Order: sequence, then structure tokens, then C-alpha cells
Amino acid sequence: MTPSLTQLAYVAAAVLFIVGLKRMSHPRTAVQGNVLGIAGMGLAILLALTSGQLEHHWLIGIGLLVGTAIGIGFALTVKMTDMPQMVALFNGFGGAASVLVAAGALLHNTADAVSSRTAVGISGVIGAITFWGSLVAFGKLQELDLFKKPIDFPYKQPVTIAIACLMLLLTIVLGLGAGHWLFIPTVLLASAIGILLVNPIGGADMPVVIALLNSYSGLAAAATGFVINNHVLVISGSLVGASGIILTRLMCKAMNRSLSNVLFGVVATGNNDGDDDIYENVQITTADNVALMLEAAQRIVFVPGYGMAVAQAQHAVRNLSKILEAQQTTVEYAIHPVAGRMPGHMNVLLAEADVPYDQLIEMDQINPTMDSVDVAIVLGANDVVNPVARTDPQSPIAGMPIIDVDQARIVIVIKRSLSAGFAGIPNPLFANSNTWMLFGDGQQAVLDITTAITDG
Ligand code: TAP
Repeated sequence: MTPSLTQLAYVAAAVLFIVGLKRMSHPRTAVQGNVLGIAGMGLAILLALTSGQLEHHWLIGIGLLVGTAIGIGFALTVKMTDMPQMVALFNGFGGAASVLVAAGALLHNTADAVSSRTAVGISGVIGAITFWGSLVAFGKLQELDLFKKPIDFPYKQPVTIAIACLMLLLTIVLGLGAGHWLFIPTVLLASAIGILLVNPIGGADMPVVIALLNSYSGLAAAATGFVINNHVLVISGSLVGASGIILTRLMCKAMNRSLSNVLFGVVATGNNDGDDDIYENVQITTADNVALMLEAAQRIVFVPGYGMAVAQAQHAVRNLSKILEAQQTTVEYAIHPVAGRMPGHMNVLLAEADVPYDQLIEMDQINPTMDSVDVAIVLGANDVVNPVARTDPQSPIAGMPIIDVDQARIVIVIKRSLSAGFAGIPNPLFANSNTWMLFGDGQQAVLDITTAITDG
């Protein structure tokens, strides 16, 4: 292929990425967007392989085979509820790849100009921050004990600032032509920053961090594109970087927090003291009673959360909705932007169960109408309906907008116990006078309600 034809094909790959990204912005076209993105990446890999610039094709072939096998293995075995951890890991792998490519460019002396060496430094720094930050995020999402407690040591803040300043200084010096060996301490310092930055973030702020790390992995890839002079990598990396920043902003808005507050604010931790007092007046109900309440209702809103994903209750909910709709009841689904463990988690699950898109109502839209809801069914959600967000400024979810289920006439909460959600705090909603707890696995509870309606 002539060089100009190759460049033209690279532009085609970039266009496929952009159109793919655009189509992914709506559930109806998301699958098509994914396919376009895959096609763009396939084309880019093919072009890189046939560009004539590569040596050791057999080695790249082995890399492709191993990578493909790992990707397929993950896709087939990772449960839907573990997808966020997988995304965190994959972000991290992207960061690690950027560090390795930058190191390779230094070793082979292919980055001599100041601009290339600066790109090497940036690629190494952002890549290392992304890799280690993503590993910590993975550990937190996996709820591993090691990552539950923030790292603490004397003068933590000034030490972190000193590490960051030294890292920046070394990046500049590396760019100006200092010895290659400087890349190693620069990457080590960036690794420390990645760990120190993500480690203290907890409670409900993880959505912001995941979006930010996603953006970093794109920026690292874009910098790597400059290192190896690959335009399509610059474009695709920039797209990931920019969309990640937009997502970060959206997540900050969903949490009603500024980015600096998430990253550098004092972290409030869950406090479970006094749970017994809070839950003194909890009212427990049965599937038969819930069925009676639903049959008398005209407007019902389901509020799904992470527990619906764990229970895989979406198909059972859809089935129950159909039965209720056949009885002329209005059924809607209230979607909180950070419900579940990844952006759009609830939308994906409900789309999988063929819930019509017009029944999915965003939080801002549904909240003003919550007082006209007869029954709100909170299915495996906890933090996103916790009124403490409004009342306790010390809470880890303070200020986060919630779905105002407490305004509904009756609230049914389906979960297995009174235990806390991701933020680790008690939820006074469970003890409200209009709340009834239906304890059990989400899917089984919905099936029981359905049976009670159809048999009764
Ligand atoms: P959570 O607050 O995590 O609550 C989920 C509830 O589901 C738990 O209290 C659990 O109670 C219940 N549950 C678990 N398995 C269940 C099952 N099989 N059947 C029924 N219930 C089950 O979820 P949420 O309200 O969706 O809030 C999301 C939280 O995750 C927020 O704090 C958010 O910031 C955070 N987060 C979100 C994201 C994104 S991007 N969405 C990413 C990372 C973190 P039991 O154990 O008593 O059943």
C-alpha cells in the first residue's frame, strides 16, 4: 500500500471510531457503535501490521493471539456484576502498555527530539498513574480488605505534593535530553502518585475516579501515539481522553461534587454506630402483601440498584411490569446516574430485559413527580435512595442528589438484609413510616410477588 493510501485508511479508521462513539451515546444504537469501533480498531491493527515499519512480525502475532485469548476469556467468564472491575483493569493495562512503548522508544533511541522525549516522559507518567490507580480502583471495587483502609503516614499531603513536583521536574529534564535511566525514577514516582491519589477515595466517589482513570488511559495512549508517530493512536487516545473527561464531569454532577473535592477533599468514612437505634421501627412485609399494594396502585416506579444486577432480577421485573401494565397500571423505572457499579449499568440491564426506553426516567425528570407515585419499589438500591445525603453534611454521600422515593405514598425496599450499600452507611429510609422491607434475594422476591398476583 502506498504511504498516502495508508494515511487515508488511517483516517477511515479514525472516522469509524468517531461515528462509533457517537452511536454509543444511545442504547438503541450502542451495539452498532461498538461494531464500528471494533472495525476501526481492526483496520488500524491491519494497517500497522502491513505498514512495513514493523520488525519481528511473529512476535506481534504471538502478542495478538495472547491478547485475543485473554480478551475472549474475560468476555466469556466475567460476570455482569464484575464488569466495572474488568473496565478498571483494562484501563490499567492501557496505561501499562503506554509505559512499555515509551520505554521501548527510549531503548531503541527512536525518540531523540525534545518533543518526542517529552512525549515519552508524559506517556510514562500518565501511563504509570493510570496503571497503579486502576489497580487500586480494581481492589476497591472488588472490596478487597487491603484497599479498604486509606494509606496514612506523617506529613502525607506535603510528601505527596513533593513527589508530584519531583515527578514533573524529572519529566521535564528527561524531555530536555538527560540520561535514559531517568525514565525509571520518573515512572516510579508516577506509580506512587497513582496509588496515593486513588487510595483515599472511597465511599460513593468511585464513579468519578473510574471515569477519570478512563480518561487518563486515553491521554497516555495519545502521548504514545506521538512517541511512535502513529496518528490513529493519537486520535483514538484523544477521543478516549476527551470522552473520559466529559464522563468525569457528568459523574461529578451526579454526585454534586467538584473534581478537586473528590480528589483532595477530606474523606468521610461510613459510620455504622447506632444502626440499632436507626432501625428500631423497621416494618417488614411479605410478597402477598406487596401484591395487594401493587394491585391497588395506579402509578408504580421501580428504582433499581446494584442489588438488581447481583440478583439478575431484570427479566423478572420486566415480566411483573407487563402483568401490571395489563391491569392499566403505569409502570416506570427511575434511573440514578450512579446506580450500580458503572455508568449506565441499570440502562444496560433493563435494555437486556427489553424494557421500553421511554419507561426509563432519569432522576432529574422523575423526582418532581415522586409525590404522585403510589408505590416505589426499591430493588437492590441503597445509597442512591439514602436521605442522609440531604441531611448529614458529614456523610460520605453528603450533597449527592438521590431519587426521592421517600416522597412516594408507599415505599417497598427489596434487599436481603439491613446491611449498608457501597458507601458503608446506614439508611434511615428503611425505618420510615411509609417504608416496608421485603427481605430476600431480588429475583426471588419479584418472582414471589408475581406469583402472588397471578395466583391471587
Ligand atoms: P448500593 O448502595 O451498593 O446498594 C446495593 C444494595 O443491594 C445493598 O445494600 C445490598 O443489600 C443489595 N443487594 C445485594 N445483592 C442483592 C440481591 N441478590 N438481592 C437483593 N438485594 C441485593 O447500590 P446503589 O444504590 O445502586 O448505589 C451505587 C453505589 O455504588 C453508590 O454509592 C455509587 O457511588 C457506587 N458506585 C457507583 C459506580 C457507578 S459508575 N455506577 C461505580 C462505583 C461505585 P443486601 O446485602 O442487604 O441485600
